[in-house]
Amino acid sequence: MTRLHLLGLAAACALLATSSAYAEGNKAEGRTLVYTCAGCHGVPGYTNAYPNYPVPKIAGQNEQYLVNALNGYKNGERTYPTMAVQAQSLSEQNIKDIAAYLSSVTPLK
Ligand code: HEC
Repeated sequence: MTRLHLLGLAAACALLATSSAYAEGNKAEGRTLVYTCAGCHGVPGYTNAYPNYPVPKIAGQNEQYLVNALNGYKNGERTYPTMAVQAQSLSEQNIKDIAAYLSSVTPLK
């Protein structure tokens, strides 16, 4: 009986751990989401598709900075049209996931 109880507790903890990790931003999810961004931003393994206009490096950037920047494009605080379109298609969770992933990778030199 006690053993069953412990098992239940362990399962509950595991569930809690996963759900809180998700609320913080899921790196694996973020990694899939940035595929569309890679054409413009130099994410590791990719090169810049538009060498003749400057695109900021976002890989390795601070997580909160990325969340703020993307929300800025989404809510109109930042007005760059292409990025506004990108950000508007992202949910709050997408933004967290992207920020969690990008802040975890090493920036390209
Ligand atoms: C069509 C090209 C293009 C695509 C696709 C694109 N971006 Fe951008 N992004 C830009 C440009 C250009 C800027 C600089 C805009 C400005 O001056 O505000 C920018 C700015 C940003 C910034 C702010 C960086 C900073 O230091 O201020 C973030 C964060 C960002 N993009 C994330 C993303 C993410 C995440 C995606 C994919 C969902 C994405 N971008 C897709 C071109 C693109």
